[in-house]
Amino acid sequence: MRVLVIGSGAREHALVLALRRDPAVTALFAAPGNAGIAQHAQVRPVDPCAAEDVVALATEVDADLVVIGPEVPLVLGVADALRVAGIPCFGPSAAAARIEGSKAFAKDVMSAAGVRTAHSEVVDNPAELDDALDRFGPTWVVKDDGLAAGKGVVVTADRSAAREHGAELLEQGHPVLLESFLDGPEVSLFCLVDGETVVPLLPAQDHKRVGDGDTGPNTGGMGAYTPLPWLPEETVTAIVEDVVRPVAAELVRRGSGFSGLLYAGLAIGSAGPAVVEFNCRFGDPETQAVLALLDSPLGELLYATATGTLAQVEPPRWRDGAAVTVVLAAENYPGRPRLGDAISGAGEGASDGNATVLHAGTTQREDGALISAGGRVLNVVGVGANLTEARASAYDRIAAIKLPGSHYRTDIGLAAVENRIEV
Ligand code: GLY
Repeated sequence: MRVLVIGSGAREHALVLALRRDPAVTALFAAPGNAGIAQHAQVRPVDPCAAEDVVALATEVDADLVVIGPEVPLVLGVADALRVAGIPCFGPSAAAARIEGSKAFAKDVMSAAGVRTAHSEVVDNPAELDDALDRFGPTWVVKDDGLAAGKGVVVTADRSAAREHGAELLEQGHPVLLESFLDGPEVSLFCLVDGETVVPLLPAQDHKRVGDGDTGPNTGGMGAYTPLPWLPEETVTAIVEDVVRPVAAELVRRGSGFSGLLYAGLAIGSAGPAVVEFNCRFGDPETQAVLALLDSPLGELLYATATGTLAQVEPPRWRDGAAVTVVLAAENYPGRPRLGDAISGAGEGASDGNATVLHAGTTQREDGALISAGGRVLNVVGVGANLTEARASAYDRIAAIKLPGSHYRTDIGLAAVENRIEV
């Protein structure tokens, strides 16, 4: 099977490495990829959002399967263009990707499917912001009502900070979504979905704030771990049966059946799981940890999803143990990051022992030096017999990487190790 992966982050690097482990995958291409992905796949400088160019590349490389990583091409209909060209694609249609691209659509689907989620209001007029804030909070949850890569969200008990973020979004012309605060630890559950067939992967937990102890602003994700020792197996079953399956069925009922990865982000509160958000693609950085434990051929699972035969393949098998992703971020991230610095200690190959270095925002200079080129620069994925060992694998490896001004959280998965998470 010849596979083309679309995207350029650590999530796509993890997808490429997992696909490479599948003996049925005979050729791997990526567009545009990054310096790390280029070690394992032929990379091509194609814009992921340019549907015609993606179709042309998939045709040129004779791809049997295209896997779209990021949400923006999905929301723009790149998967539709591939399907029109007769090329199997892992990723939903633009109509189904609205589950992530339009918060109003997602709320409407959840309401029709009877799924618990936060109460919300959209504000598009600055004159209405103060009254609307009075109807919410504390705590206030203020979101960009569009795609914002996680950074459009401010969760705060400080009304003036909530107001400032809302006003800033409105000034930029973005409608603001106010939501009631859902308490309880967060879970990311990724499900392969092909119409009404739903196959869950391992549950994971993201760490969205920049600083240890969940302090500082939200980011695109500073680390993740899987599985979740504190989450009962029956809660995962309940999420699949009471949340993901009804939403998949509702999308089919509306004529926009989902094909790809449906990501349920949930808060596990005292009244049970409630949806924080749905995304239409693999989550970043949770995917990097989840795929590190996958023991089944990834290509077969994604191809079956893309071709409507998911119900006929074996459910995924998982390695015992745990996996932890730690994100190395550039100085000043999640503000405007410092770019263009040389990185040392990232290593040549993908993996050494129990740690794998994945590239997120990197590029290679003509002299071969590895250079930072994004806010999230590298990820280190550690595996081990348990979470403590997986953390040690990741943190030992990341300590050997040198990038001026860079930072990472030191507490990924720590609350779970110390039994500080209660549901
Ligand atoms: N883990 C957050 C996201 O992928 O949006």
